[in-house]
Amino acid sequence: MAEQTPASETEARKSRHLDICLEDDVASGLDAGFSKVRLRHEALPECALADVDASTTLLGRALRAPIVISSMTGGTDRAREINRNLAIGAERTGVALALGSQRAALENEALLDSYDVRAVAPTVMLFANLGAVQFNYGVTVDDARRAVADIRADGLYLHLNPLQEALQLHGDTDFRGLLAKIASLCANLGKPVIAKSVGSGIAVSTAARLLEAGVAAIDVAGAGGTSWARVEGKRAGDPRREALAETFAGWGYPTVEATAALRAAFPAACIIASGGVRSGVDVAKALALGANAAGIALPLLAPATKSAEAVVEVLEDTIAGLRIAMFASGCRKIARLREALHCEPSSRSGSDAT
Ligand SMILES: Cc1cc2nc3c(=O)[nH]c(=O)nc-3n(C[C@H](O)[C@H](O)[C@H](O)COP(=O)(O)O)c2cc1C
Repeated sequence: MAEQTPASETEARKSRHLDICLEDDVASGLDAGFSKVRLRHEALPECALADVDASTTLLGRALRAPIVISSMTGGTDRAREINRNLAIGAERTGVALALGSQRAALENEALLDSYDVRAVAPTVMLFANLGAVQFNYGVTVDDARRAVADIRADGLYLHLNPLQEALQLHGDTDFRGLLAKIASLCANLGKPVIAKSVGSGIAVSTAARLLEAGVAAIDVAGAGGTSWARVEGKRAGDPRREALAETFAGWGYPTVEATAALRAAFPAACIIASGGVRSGVDVAKALALGANAAGIALPLLAPATKSAEAVVEVLEDTIAGLRIAMFASGCRKIARLREALHCEPSSRSGSDAT
């Protein structure tokens, strides 16, 4: 494949992203919207907490809980340890794991082992990750097949990040003709492709084109959690560029609004809600809004720099919160959560995510 960016530059960028996300305030200026969603409180649930079953299936795979660890990292020594801890955490708790962009490993095969977590996560539903725009910068369907096969993944997360690329000094900003390339990828990869944003959300009209192109699922990765505009602004090291990036801190479709709009428009599509999901209650609310699963990134980053046990703790607490929310709203099964939506988010009417 053609190399647009020196591999070491990609590695340095990935490492700086980790530092910024760990040390700086990178929260979106928007609220993801979960505080506006209320679930029914069932004072008489007529079941035991022990009977509550949070298991589900996602794209045909069984999960102990409908949670995906959202894509974060790879391609550096630090990332190897982080991915290993996330993978052990996912294996022990029975949730899915999406790795960070594998562009670095396509540029330099020596970095592949920072993504290679199968040995510690033999049964995990595992996703590879690439940026869609890279298909305009030399990445081919064969590269994508290799990215999936190299780590024995079950599918590919394809991120759509025009805002992030535009705010990078030498970002890859030619997004022309990508839909046809995504359609070709979906037809030829041999594994499901999930399209995601990176904290700005996906509009209904865009999701319609992606689903038509053959993606198996849409992960809204909406606004209200980590803001990649802010991350790129802080990485720029230049006050003018940081100020420019800050003007986009409140950009995008909040997660709750985007999830509700997508579910209303595509009743049968597989939809993952992520961006600002911060607790088991948020997961329950995302499912009540119609998501098939919820994704979490930033809250797992610091634990993953410490140990697998720290990742397990956060995931177990999140699953405990989800199960208690199900119990307290009278839902023994995940499928019942749709009926527990007590109060639709006020932002839904007049949503500009449509
Ligand atoms: C340190 C870090 C690195 C990330 N790297 C990627 C990436 O390589 N590919 C991707 O699709 N998303 C990446 N993301 C975006 C997340 O997958 C997610 O969409 C976003 O952070 C919003 O979720 P959150 O609010 O739970 O953090 C990254 C996020 C973080 C925090």
